[in-house]
Amino acid sequence: MTHEAGPERERWQPAMMDGRLVTLRRHRPENMPHVLRWYRDPELARLTRYQTQPMPREEVERFFHARLLGPDSVAYAIHIRATDRLIGLTTFSSLDADNGSVLFHITIGERDAWGQGYGTETAQLMLEHAFERLGLHRVGLSVFAFNERAIRSYEKAGFHIEGRLREAIQREGRYWDEIQMGALAGEWLERRQSAGRLMSPPELAPSRG
Ligand SMILES: CC(C)(COP(=O)(O)OP(=O)(O)OC[C@H]1O[C@@H](n2cnc3c(N)ncnc32)[C@H](O)[C@@H]1OP(=O)(O)O)[C@@H](O)C(=O)NCCC(=O)NCCS
Repeated sequence: MTHEAGPERERWQPAMMDGRLVTLRRHRPENMPHVLRWYRDPELARLTRYQTQPMPREEVERFFHARLLGPDSVAYAIHIRATDRLIGLTTFSSLDADNGSVLFHITIGERDAWGQGYGTETAQLMLEHAFERLGLHRVGLSVFAFNERAIRSYEKAGFHIEGRLREAIQREGRYWDEIQMGALAGEWLERRQSAGRLMSPPELAPSRG
């Protein structure tokens, strides 16, 4: 399935999704140096990679072109809405159309932007996209047990802990579990109904710009 242009791409990967704090935009080639810098950060590698070394440059470049710029990807740059500053990226991977599931990924690469609610809102916008536009059934993710900020943020966004791969990662001299989390369409819609809408409808509508 390819989504080069037209209404199908707009449905699959709207040019932009607006929240209260963040705006998600399709990536542009100019984002590459930022992405490269984030993936060179050892603290980011510690939080997100099995390997302790940051991702090699060529691998980041391949990832950027294939997975972030590719027309078939659901991949977004995260911008602070008030200033348009680029702070990170989010993607879906491993689409399983038969079972209506994907995996969710997020990296806020600018460390000074951590802990201000941007990650939680980004996850909510991606869950909304998955369940309310793409009609998917399940969004999963995995996170290292020591990444407490991420786990807390995912729970706030609507993910639940479903299981753990025991002692799957070694870091700082000990083993840690890898935690599996998931969100389901039914519980997402129920949560939305009981909480009232998080954002007003015009803010959530995919932009045509
Ligand atoms: C994980 C990430 C997406 C979260 O986004 P964020 O914008 O920083 O998180 P938010 O501000 O939305 O929410 C963080 C929550 O965790 C809490 N928190 C922060 N540090 C914490 C810690 N060390 N332990 C427990 N909770 C923590 C915050 O207080 C907040 O919860 P609260 O609103 O109830 O107070 C972002 O920090 C990030 O990209 N980090 C680096 C890469 C990474 O870890 N990616 C995830 C890989 S699975």
